[in-house]
Amino acid sequence: MLSDAHTKPDFDLDGLIDRLPKVELHVHLEGTLEPELAFRLAARNGVVLPFTTVDEMRARYDFADLQAFLDIYYAACSVLVTREDFRELTLDYLRRADADHVRHVEPFFDPQTHTDRGISIGDVIGGILDGLADGEREFGITSGLILSFLRHLPAEAASATLADAEPWLDRIVAVGLDSSEVGYPPEPFAAVFAAARARGLRAVAHAGEEADASLVARTLDCLGVSRIDHGVRAADDPAVMRRLAEDGVTLTACPLSNLRLRVVPALARSTIGTLLGAGVAVTINSDDPAYFGGYIGENYRRIVAALGFGAADVARLATNAINGSFASADRKRELLAELAGVAGGAAGAE
Ligand code: HPA
Ligand code: ZN
Repeated sequence: MLSDAHTKPDFDLDGLIDRLPKVELHVHLEGTLEPELAFRLAARNGVVLPFTTVDEMRARYDFADLQAFLDIYYAACSVLVTREDFRELTLDYLRRADADHVRHVEPFFDPQTHTDRGISIGDVIGGILDGLADGEREFGITSGLILSFLRHLPAEAASATLADAEPWLDRIVAVGLDSSEVGYPPEPFAAVFAAARARGLRAVAHAGEEADASLVARTLDCLGVSRIDHGVRAADDPAVMRRLAEDGVTLTACPLSNLRLRVVPALARSTIGTLLGAGVAVTINSDDPAYFGGYIGENYRRIVAALGFGAADVARLATNAINGSFASADRKRELLAELAGVAGGAAGAE
């Protein structure tokens, strides 16, 4: 994956990454909860966190696997109580995204993590939409919100959540599926995904993070998704890779997440280069940046350095994110023009 620009020793790849107009397609708003905000909200809401300081909370971020992370992630969500909390969480993320030159984002939220604690779904969605509107006004970042179901809970609970969210569905762009992957297959969620698609929503789902390539294929078979979240283990099966490339399925890879959750032992072992080389529309994202050591810019810098990518590869990744987003055709054209302005001939629009 060495492109021409990479062979020029003085080419400023980090400068290109900084200036790149970024589209983020895989970020969990709950995973952007920095310890400082968690402690501030805990004090405001009278919630006791199982840590005494910000440093102690961060020191616990040494995860053996996805489940070890999810246990802490769900526990920290207890500080999110009011509509204003969800607005601040969202705006805090957008402030960091703006510093990384993110221009459009399609964040996930997990309503069941909050409604199961007695928080009203209207406060959750209302607060997030308030934050997204504030962020668009303040930073010009456009967005499309993704309502994600928890796969460790029954499919009936997902259907009930979709029904509860009905008043806001015209302001939600897609449904997603996340949480524990191994042991929680996609097939039971086929009906709720079909109902969401019939209602005009797009669909995405996590697959191929911890589970193998066959789960990516099964997810494509049963959920009607336009994107696979993570999907990096698809590289283990050439037939699955070919299918992703031929069907134009976007993969939302998250390099630092894979490193911190031990999906790969080192970034140099990431399959992102293999997938890109096979013609799969891979994108770079941050997943749960407050927990995994970096926002989207850091994910770009670290994977580009580890895999020896050049300017054309960087432009390809950014182009894939624009084309794979659910933004309007006009917005995509704007973003592609911005990208061409920054990456010049390295950016090839579709
Ligand atoms: N995988 C699955 N579910 C999640 C993740 C993840 O990385 N982050 C938040 N929910
Ligand atoms: Zn994720």
